Amino acid sequence: MNYRHAFHAGNFADVVKHSVLALIVEHLKKKDKAFRVIDTHAGVGAYDLSSGPAQRTGEWREGIGRLLDAGFSPEVATLLKPWLDVVRGENPSGSVARYPGSPLLVRRLLRPQDRLTAIELHPQDANALKALFAGDFQVRVIELDGWLALGAHVPPKEKRGLVLVDPPFEEDGEFERMVDGLSKAWARWPGGTYALWYPLKHRKAVDAMRRALKASGIPKILDVALAIRPSSPEPRLDGCGMVVVNPPFTLKRDCETLFAALAPVLAEDGGGNWSAEWLAGEAA
Ligand SMILES: C[S@@+](CC[C@H](N)C(=O)[O-])C[C@H]1O[C@@H](n2cnc3c(N)ncnc32)[C@H](O)[C@@H]1O
Repeated sequence: MNYRHAFHAGNFADVVKHSVLALIVEHLKKKDKAFRVIDTHAGVGAYDLSSGPAQRTGEWREGIGRLLDAGFSPEVATLLKPWLDVVRGENPSGSVARYPGSPLLVRRLLRPQDRLTAIELHPQDANALKALFAGDFQVRVIELDGWLALGAHVPPKEKRGLVLVDPPFEEDGEFERMVDGLSKAWARWPGGTYALWYPLKHRKAVDAMRRALKASGIPKILDVALAIRPSSPEPRLDGCGMVVVNPPFTLKRDCETLFAALAPVLAEDGGGNWSAEWLAGEAA
């Protein structure tokens, strides 16, 4: 486990992931009934952008750093608001110095009846996460292999909610693991929403994942992706995507609106492209 998210916190990939995550959580809040979010690869929850690893790479400057000053249409601003309100809430002085990762973002969006289970395997990161949520009865932090949790912790007792799967993709076979883990979890809990982040780096692996998902028998799968540059000849993080099983019915349209606005802001040289397609269900 060499991956440390602190180097990448707030980068364009986090912008894509966290803006979509907030849309899904906000949709769950449209019904009063309690829900649970299970974050299988949670990280440390809060990242200091002003010093240490994030400051050294400066990746956040091309991500969240570009967003706060960008002008968006009222429709796009409304879609971004729940997420950006959380980011701004963590930074009352104005400039972004503390970036909320997925568990902290989700926690800030929860209502009193909702719960979060945050799983992290790295002992140091799990401890940091436990310290962040110490005394918070709405959050359970578990030091555990997220792939095991994906099988063992669904369905949650609320029988409503979201599983976020955000592995580091530092080992071979992560795409296969993701499809396999998703298929097993979905068999146990077909009604849950699942959001799985993936890199656009090894295009053949992405194509193979999409084919495997289409053949999985899971009936409703949306795939949204945003690239900040055309495909590089050598493997490079050119973009990223989210596979969403049982998405909110508004998510495809919202991502189309959002990504059309985000792509030119996040892209190198103002280029960039995006897609939002059903792999299964709806009009696939
Ligand atoms: C991409 S980062 C997560 C970022 C976080 N989801 C966010 O959006 O703020 C991936 C995390 O997974 C952790 N990790 C790696 N292998 C894991 C495993 N098998 N189970 C759980 N966590 C793992 C890493 O330590 C790292 O913190």
